[in-house]
Amino acid sequence: MTTDSMTPMILPDAQTVTEVQHYTDSLFRFCITRPASMRFRSGEFVMIGLLDDPHPETGKQKPLLRAYSIASPAWDETLQFYSIKVDNGPLTSKLQHIKVGDQLILKQKSVGTLVHDALTRANRLWFFSTGTGVAPFSSLLREPETYERFNQVVLTHTCRDLADLKFGEELVEATRNDILVGDEARDKLLYYPTTTRETSARMGRITTALEDGSLFKNLNITDFNATNDRAMVCGSMGLNTDMKRILENYGLCEGSNADPADYVVEKAFVG
Ligand code: A2P
Repeated sequence: MTTDSMTPMILPDAQTVTEVQHYTDSLFRFCITRPASMRFRSGEFVMIGLLDDPHPETGKQKPLLRAYSIASPAWDETLQFYSIKVDNGPLTSKLQHIKVGDQLILKQKSVGTLVHDALTRANRLWFFSTGTGVAPFSSLLREPETYERFNQVVLTHTCRDLADLKFGEELVEATRNDILVGDEARDKLLYYPTTTRETSARMGRITTALEDGSLFKNLNITDFNATNDRAMVCGSMGLNTDMKRILENYGLCEGSNADPADYVVEKAFVG
């Protein structure tokens, strides 16, 4: 669309797409330029989007924005996102077609509960994720503060099928080879992927593995409790609810930016 026949319409708060990688028919990641003035804490989310279809009568286009966790760390020069593709989804039906050089709307204000400020220090930090809920942990895994604050870091990622785990596998590999955090990650980072539909080495929901103790048995951990452990949770609503109950049963208390404690859940995440 153009404002007149000569001038291409400029998106408000526009950033340029620098990278796109498709994993499956329903999963992809992309990177955009980062405004020089933008500050955020690793683990936070922002609003991003595109212009909606022109209004049939006025021809006007409104911004179509959704909350997306930033999947790159606060020190990175570009901003990465990890997304589902929904054919009839108002935003992702369009977003899945973006290409390098396209423009995207970014609202710079970042917020969220999956931040180090919301947790007190302890021995071990758990990142529990399902599906694209792994995105904020992609930011936090490459954040040096994660390894400064904790002696051990465990990423669990549960998806239906093996192909859905690819983003997380590449993330863990990249983190272990990262110039900033690679040495510490190789030493401290444990990765626990599971599938629930397709057959794989580790099958089942992470909630089941927590409740039946197989998670701890497989990782050789005997002391999961509120003294040793802190947790961040990001995934479906069902996961959030179940994890809250399970973590509270283990004696962990929910924290927030204002009142840091033992675990946090990203309530704004939908996916
Ligand atoms: P399941 O296949 O048993 O439903 P989705 O693709 O629906 O977003 O789910 C992503 C992953 O999260 C799936 O492996 C799914 O398992 C799992 N999952 C969904 N709900 C829960 C829950 N309440 N607790 C733990 N895992 C869940």
